[in-house]
Amino acid sequence: MAELKAVILAAGKGTRMKSSLPKVLHDVGGKPMVTHVIETARQAGAAGSIVVVGFGAELVMDKIGDAAEYTIQHQQLGTGHAVVQTYDKLKDFSGTVMVLCGDTPLLQADTLSELYKQHISSGAKATILSAKMPDPFGYGRIIRSSDGQVQKIVEQKDASEQEKLVDEVNTGIYCFEAPELFAALNSIDCNNVQGEYYLTDVIAKLVSGGQKVSALVIHDYQQTLGINSRIQLAEAEKIYRRRKLEQLMDSGVTIMDIDSTFIDADVTIGSDTIIYPFTWLEKGTVIGSGCRIGPQCRIQNTQIGDYCTIHFTYAHDCRIENEVTVGPYVHIRPDTVLAKGVKVGNFVEVKNSLIGEYSKLPHLSYIGDTDMGAHVNIGCGTITVNYDGKKKHRTTIQDHAFVGCNTNLVAPVSVGQQAYVAAGSTITKDVPAEALGVGRARQKNIDGWVTKHI
Ligand code: UD1
Ligand code: CA
Repeated sequence: MAELKAVILAAGKGTRMKSSLPKVLHDVGGKPMVTHVIETARQAGAAGSIVVVGFGAELVMDKIGDAAEYTIQHQQLGTGHAVVQTYDKLKDFSGTVMVLCGDTPLLQADTLSELYKQHISSGAKATILSAKMPDPFGYGRIIRSSDGQVQKIVEQKDASEQEKLVDEVNTGIYCFEAPELFAALNSIDCNNVQGEYYLTDVIAKLVSGGQKVSALVIHDYQQTLGINSRIQLAEAEKIYRRRKLEQLMDSGVTIMDIDSTFIDADVTIGSDTIIYPFTWLEKGTVIGSGCRIGPQCRIQNTQIGDYCTIHFTYAHDCRIENEVTVGPYVHIRPDTVLAKGVKVGNFVEVKNSLIGEYSKLPHLSYIGDTDMGAHVNIGCGTITVNYDGKKKHRTTIQDHAFVGCNTNLVAPVSVGQQAYVAAGSTITKDVPAEALGVGRARQKNIDGWVTKHI
């Protein structure tokens, strides 16, 4: 097969979104719509994408980075004009150009592969992906001759009453042979109701030039829906998330309640993990096998190993290794590592800390900026005093140390291996290995005090 390249139209403002963000940068499943389209084109075999940017060009290019090439359309004079902007990059390209829009996040790669396959096998110069819409209003209509051959596409605003009755519409997705596409674009004009250069006019030009044009009717038209408003964005989000959950379930993940589970596009989960209700798993999160996650977790950009149990927890930008138990009511903050077998329980917050293997932080603690060894026991209510009002300082707690309840560890400070800290201590000096650190007022009992005073 000849080479395939994608051109993705994304210069429009998306006025109906009523947003300062370019439309194509709105997320679906935690990923910008245009990124979905670039990835889908790649999966369908496109050797690269050229994104036509205009409104918010810098923002779009910044966000997409080097996942695509760009060309800037300074004035949005129509879809035909937009494609012309790619001429400089494609003038020496003799393969197939697949034209897509940046606002169709639900599009699937096998649909594009099928379109491309038909385009190549039929020998057409243009193949339109069309759909039968229950309500075709607003779309360009596919006009066929009496023998079924595609003749042209007529936009809603330019259509005759009879043409408006046609329910086969243009999805805005096509394959073109590059040389014929640019030759035809050379001859289109803007003599239409919108005064725009329509890409769709290429079809009639090719037909009148005796070139073969065909259309592939897609049955699942939902895939091709373009997002124009926040309401459509929410609908797409719902469809996308459902699809993601189904993929995960097919790969061996149990989802207890699909209506209250929200999993972003790039999240991966190993088999036999169970996701309990009211759980959000967001961008950058990786979860291993055999875990129990939720109910009520929000996990962002966090890598979790195998056989972990995490419930009623907010964890972000951290790493949790195998067999760790977290929750309930726990906040794991950025740059924290919980090593194998760690237990973090009831009302604990951990920030920017390394917690060594099998250490336990079971109740009501704040552990920040701490390097903790293995098998450490942190008593209920222990706090690292890591901030002096100006600077943060680190606390070190070495292997097998035992820190009694309600201890303040005033950083910078360290507790040595197998050292003990007496409950209720405020520790301001290092506790050597195997020592007992006591930092509290000694208790005194006054005999007979009650009879004297009351
Ligand atoms: C277009 C098609 C219509 C089809 C519909 C499917 C044309 C003339 N019409 O109409 O037949 O049924 O898509 O959704 O092509 N864009 C640019 N630069 C421009 C104009 C548009 O980059 O100058 C981009 C937009 O950002 C958008 C895409 O092209 O991503 C489609 O443009 P839009 O104005 O939404 O076309 P429709 O009127 O929907
Ligand atoms: Ca439009």
